[in-house]
Amino acid sequence: MGTAAIEVRGLWKIFGPKADRIIGSPDADLDPAQLRAKTGCTAAVRDVSFEVRPGEVFVVMGLSGSGKSTLVRCLTRLIEPTAGELRIDGQDVRAMSAKQLRELRRHRVSMVFQHFGLLPHRKVVDNVGYGLEIQGVGKAERHEKARRILSLVGLEGHEESYPEQLSGGMQQRVGLARALAVDPEVLLFDEPFSALDPLIRRDMQAEVIRLHREVGKTMVFITHDLSEALKLGERIAIMRAGKIVQVGTPEELVGAPADDYVADFVRDVPKAQVLSLRWICRSPEPDEPLDGPELPAGTVIHDAIPAAMASDRPIRVIADGELAGVVSRVDLLRAVRQEPESVVVAAADDKDEPADAESSGDEPSAEAVQGSEDEKSGAEAAEAPGAEAGKASEGEVSAAEAAEGSDGEASGAEGEASDAEAAQTTEGEASGAEAVEASEGEKSGAEDKAPESAKKAKKSARKGAAVAAAGVSGEA
Ligand SMILES: Nc1ncnc2c1ncn2[C@@H]1O[C@H](COP(=O)(O)OP(=O)(O)OP(=O)(O)O)[C@@H](O)[C@H]1O
Ligand SMILES: [Mg+2]
Repeated sequence: MGTAAIEVRGLWKIFGPKADRIIGSPDADLDPAQLRAKTGCTAAVRDVSFEVRPGEVFVVMGLSGSGKSTLVRCLTRLIEPTAGELRIDGQDVRAMSAKQLRELRRHRVSMVFQHFGLLPHRKVVDNVGYGLEIQGVGKAERHEKARRILSLVGLEGHEESYPEQLSGGMQQRVGLARALAVDPEVLLFDEPFSALDPLIRRDMQAEVIRLHREVGKTMVFITHDLSEALKLGERIAIMRAGKIVQVGTPEELVGAPADDYVADFVRDVPKAQVLSLRWICRSPEPDEPLDGPELPAGTVIHDAIPAAMASDRPIRVIADGELAGVVSRVDLLRAVRQEPESVVVAAADDKDEPADAESSGDEPSAEAVQGSEDEKSGAEAAEAPGAEAGKASEGEVSAAEAAEGSDGEASGAEGEASDAEAAQTTEGEASGAEAVEASEGEKSGAEDKAPESAKKAKKSARKGAAVAAAGVSGEA
């Protein structure tokens, strides 16, 4: 506790009648389908705990309907949680009055949505300055700030354009600029790039990485896209049916997936580009020379190739100033070829024994996820009605708020006449600040212990190794 930017403990969101009675009853243990059949309620977020560190990029992944959007909207109470604790920068969000919540959403937490949510009848500069306008900042100052932020996201020269005159990627840059304009502590992204084509998407990912370097905000980023998650996330939480099944660094998820669901997500990841030497190093054989090149245990496998090419001696892998093991050319080649024994099992066993099954099989569900358009969640479906204008924050926010019967009557009006509603909207959006975080258990083990403890685990106990390694899985 204490230093987390966002802290979530035992958070639940159950949609439906008498939802609060379910928590603590035996029904809470039912899986979502059973619960729905029995009570008509949908448990979208189930006993979720995590922390996000200040300045961290925390990614939430999971199949469609697994509860990601609900979770992120709960963070600023755009969706009212059913139970649990929520803190942002140590402040109890669930205890906040309406006024405090407004201030949280206006000043401290901004949200970027998938469909940009721009106001079509406002110029770019006025879209970006909207959050400031709601705060009561004068025109000259907000224009000055909006222009500065627009140049930060590469849109100088487009201040006077209207959103429809911009490409999708540019519109999302405006969305990003609008979120940044209020100088929030936390940025929440709910699949912001999934409507963009792959090249633009890559640009936008690079943009977020650059912005994060420059402005250092705490970010919670929801995505379906594993490569996006690996690129952006310092830690990644994997959700399934409302629960977080694992939180870890990309290396931990790839090297020690907590269960088959996570393993499916990471199956196609080029392991040599994610895992470090500590996952594949082994004890030297009695006759092996120990005068090869030295590399730190944290060196990514792929990056060790030049050293292996330069010397025919096994690489000596150094951790904490001591020899952690060796990696030969054959070991490296195996890892690059993704032979399972060289990666998962070696890590779990510290020996080059044969692999357990696991590493190849049918289609990764990550792919299924990405193609899961048709499986639109309730939240997205709910967004549709409000979004007449086709683009608008109106839709996004009205859905979230309307779903909860909260006050933002954003009916998706068009034009300046709708500013009042838009204000709600932007406010809601600007507000969407929470984060998704890792419980103590998750956090504690998650770091450097993973590979070490994994080594001690038995090779057959891949699952066990993962849990021990990452200490992350909460329930595994
Ligand atoms: N307002 C609502 N009323 C009832 N059920 C809802 C509501 N919002 C979401 N749900 C349900 O909660 C579950 C989680 O939905 P959520 O939108 O959080 O998933 P998601 O992981 O964001 O999915 P996607 O990747 O498709 O966006 C789903 O079963 C969904 O149908
Ligand atoms: Mg969603």
